[in-house]
Amino acid sequence: MGAASVEAIRDVSLEVRKGEIFGIIGHSGAGKSTLLRCVNLLEKPTSGSVFVGDVELTGLSEGQLQQQRRRIGMIFQHFNLLSMSTVRENIAFPLLLAKLSKAEINKRVDELLQLVQLEQHADKYPAQLSGGQKQRVGIARALANNPDVLLCDEATSALDPQTTNAILALLLDINAKLGITILLITHEMNVIRSICDRVAVIDQGDIVEMGDVLHVFLNPEHPVTRDFVDQVSDQGVNGQMLRERKGRLLRMTYIGNLTYEPILYNAVKPTAVQFAILQGTVSRMKQTPYGQLIVELIGDDMEIERVISVLRQEGLEVTAV
Ligand SMILES: Nc1ncnc2c1ncn2[C@@H]1O[C@H](COP(=O)(O)OP(=O)(O)OP(=O)(O)O)[C@@H](O)[C@H]1O
Ligand SMILES: [Mg+2]
Repeated sequence: MGAASVEAIRDVSLEVRKGEIFGIIGHSGAGKSTLLRCVNLLEKPTSGSVFVGDVELTGLSEGQLQQQRRRIGMIFQHFNLLSMSTVRENIAFPLLLAKLSKAEINKRVDELLQLVQLEQHADKYPAQLSGGQKQRVGIARALANNPDVLLCDEATSALDPQTTNAILALLLDINAKLGITILLITHEMNVIRSICDRVAVIDQGDIVEMGDVLHVFLNPEHPVTRDFVDQVSDQGVNGQMLRERKGRLLRMTYIGNLTYEPILYNAVKPTAVQFAILQGTVSRMKQTPYGQLIVELIGDDMEIERVISVLRQEGLEVTAV
């Protein structure tokens, strides 16, 4: 019997826009790494094509592909540093391969050390660094040849929450400063929420949902997407408790600066309607603040309708629960 073939991903069509941070989220085994490795053809898809900019990578010879891969940097969950080389040597490695002169390499490595704030650690070995520092080395090395695209395979999954946030802030900074397009994969919704512009949800080799992070986050449709959104929402709401409430139940969504306005209070004030907040989340998505509340309105039907129309006029999204 020959080797069994595994269909790790199928029929995936994905377009990442220049300069954006695009996240792919899925459970373990969903096909994330396989998909990411198809982008730089570390994994050769059995059919289909891969473009980076105008260049079709799937149509290139091995030599041309090596050249084009310089336009695509990659970082990994376990950093993949050379343990016998110093920080400086690790970062210099891709520049050596690109045959830059010694002087050019030193200059570029100094710039990169500064970008990732590792100037003090240039002569240390990976074993002498924390996880966050190791990933900074990985990022500097990936950026050495000024790539157009940075691929991140679970780049923060081995780090604690605080270090994760520092690395995410660095990725955001690099994206803004250098205009580099970032394609990342993760199983943590927090990563998507903190830095991504758009997201695709992958399940068993298929993309089951895709869109702007704000939209997908506030209106998750696929059960797998809902699971991920639940990772970062308050779980205080209980279906049984909601069913027992006698008033009108509404989900109110606020985006942007509305999040900080006393809109609900102002809407009910001129009426006799009372309200109870049963669940609430106020948070940020990348730079955008948002809030989502489940509220019970108690009072006269006509007055409740009036309150709802005021809320909508103020720009809130209001739906029945
Ligand atoms: N080289 C391989 N040979 C056989 N099967 C493979 C190979 N690589 C991946 N697979 C299978 O393909 C599927 C997708 O794997 P992949 O590594 O892309 O998942 P993943 O979403 O990155 O998972 P994780 O979150 O655990 O890293 C899995 O079922 C895996 O077992
Ligand atoms: Mg993986």
